[in-house]
Amino acid sequence: MTITAYLRKDPAALALAALFAVSVLAACGTGKTAKEPPAGPAPAAAAAAVLAPVPPMGFNTWNKFGCNVDEKLIRETADAMVETGMLDAGYRYLVIDDCWQVDRDAGGRIIADPQRFPGGMKALADYVHGKGLLFGIYSDIGPKTCAGRPGAAGSFDIDAATYAEWGVDYIKVDWCNCDDLDAPAEYARFRDALRRSGRPIVLSICEWGRNDPWKWAKGVGQLWRTTADIGDSWDSVVWIVGANSRHADAAGPGGWNDPDMLEVGNGGMTFDEYKTHFSLWAIMAAPLMAGNDLRAMTDGTRAILLNKEVIAVDQDPLGAQGRVVIERGYGGQVWMKPLADGSKAVAFVNYSKGELVQYVRWSQIGLPPGPAKVRDLWAHEDKGIHTDTGKNYGERFQVNVPAHGVVMVRIWPEPPAR
Ligand code: GLA
Repeated sequence: MTITAYLRKDPAALALAALFAVSVLAACGTGKTAKEPPAGPAPAAAAAAVLAPVPPMGFNTWNKFGCNVDEKLIRETADAMVETGMLDAGYRYLVIDDCWQVDRDAGGRIIADPQRFPGGMKALADYVHGKGLLFGIYSDIGPKTCAGRPGAAGSFDIDAATYAEWGVDYIKVDWCNCDDLDAPAEYARFRDALRRSGRPIVLSICEWGRNDPWKWAKGVGQLWRTTADIGDSWDSVVWIVGANSRHADAAGPGGWNDPDMLEVGNGGMTFDEYKTHFSLWAIMAAPLMAGNDLRAMTDGTRAILLNKEVIAVDQDPLGAQGRVVIERGYGGQVWMKPLADGSKAVAFVNYSKGELVQYVRWSQIGLPPGPAKVRDLWAHEDKGIHTDTGKNYGERFQVNVPAHGVVMVRIWPEPPAR
């Protein structure tokens, strides 16, 4: 859906956007930035709900390319997102992370690297939009980004106005060089600058969970990192899942815990480990930002990133973050995420080094006793009707899970017999 379509769906957001457009135009006409009005809480929730009713999906340059970004990469990635079916599967935001920016001009306007982005950001955003995608960029609350590029400190309004002019739809805002600042206040100021720009822009808060964002970030940004940076390793996935799982209460339509971008396809994990990584992100209703080279994906990587049945769990409109319902104590964990149609997504995860038999009772995942239809979301197979009346232990639903692997199913209670 385009931004205009979003706005059309929500008259309150449209009115808000119009109001901000007027104030920004007035300020720009005199060559000054608008004076910042006091932060007001009420419209924030409305704007947030419009921008990310389900977890954002897309691609971000950082995990694979680091500072090695240029407009050729972005154009080729945009092409690949369409050609590979990523866009059709829901990946809409194409985000350039750190290192696109080099300086500010005499008027304080941020300058994109002229060698790497000779056509400029507006033309690049137009290209991305022309493919049916949305365009994202990166900044930092402090004076410098994590890679030492110009940050947004002292320039929130001029940056927001510039990004709006370029056609930016999403901005990730980092927290390097900000240690002594007040995170809730700074990010709220940045949100307000975005609002004054008149363009609805998703705000991805990236302070790595340092200031308990799960307590304040909803209504400020649409997603907030809960942990330090992910690495392309099984250990990293395990640590991040443990940390992110603690904040399930905070997630829901309009605001999402962000356990960081995906590493699927970057080479540091096995196929089973990447499947588990992706399944856990989906069951935790995490933003799904691919972080691999989309121009050169193996069939295995495609099978993971383009698994529409697992993506549907992530993107379910109920917006619940799944939780651990069984902790077996020897490496087996069972997760459950309730879905809008009354079904349950269940992931059996195996953290151990050998195959594990795992099982669940309907009572443990909030299903009524009786028959329920089971579908395997990785095998793409119906597993038939399984009946757990709650009476006999032998009725438990059981699966074999490979080492570091996952079995993920969706279970629909059968309507009671008449
Ligand atoms: C921080 C962020 C990363 C990435 C880099 C860029 O480490 O957490 O996701 O944006 O900065 O420098």
